[in-house]
Amino acid sequence: MFRTFAKALGVAPNPKLMIEWGCGGGANAVAFAPHVGRLLVADVSAPSVAETIRQVAAVCSTPVGGIEVDIASPATAAAGLEDQCDLFLCVYVLELVPSQQDAMEIIEIAERLLVSGGVALIQVKYHTTSRWTRGRRRNYHRNLANMTTFGIDEFWTAATERGLTAKLVTLVPENALDRRYAYLALQKP
Ligand SMILES: C[S@@+](CC[C@H](N)C(=O)[O-])C[C@H]1O[C@@H](n2cnc3c(N)ncnc32)[C@H](O)[C@@H]1O
Repeated sequence: MFRTFAKALGVAPNPKLMIEWGCGGGANAVAFAPHVGRLLVADVSAPSVAETIRQVAAVCSTPVGGIEVDIASPATAAAGLEDQCDLFLCVYVLELVPSQQDAMEIIEIAERLLVSGGVALIQVKYHTTSRWTRGRRRNYHRNLANMTTFGIDEFWTAATERGLTAKLVTLVPENALDRRYAYLALQKP
């Protein structure tokens, strides 16, 4: 998907510096790492950051740095990295955060970290006209993967208002794991 977005946007398919925000155990990081110059992996869980670094080292020699994110103050983790990243990846994270405001705080971080022309590949869980598809916003332990949802146009506009121009979207209405995934390519002007 990133290669398709990169081709459509006319950006390099091999970013010099990539950051993955909410890296988990490194499933995406190991796929991207061989194709990037340098990789940063950030997560609120220090053991997840350590595991991702271990997994990346097992597949390639791309330099990888870890960042532990303070959940109470995520922007702090990004200090000093402004205007450096060519690719900001954040997938299967925004539906877990407590509110749209928390999700958009991550988009603001992406805007700060990207170089001009850099791309954020962001996945959100989208809601439709059916109210049952909307984020639950309570009972976190039961609704983990459905806390925060966006209308596709709503997220498109909200990202653009925060300085990242929404350019492309790919929808996965349903797959073996879940439903209503939207993947957007946002570009910093
Ligand atoms: C469902 S996992 C997805 C991991 C990875 N992106 C993937 O696709 O395999 C969500 C990850 O986001 C992290 N996370 C949750 N809230 C976060 C936040 N505000 N900032 C950074 N990471 C966060 C969690 O610790 C967890 O590792």
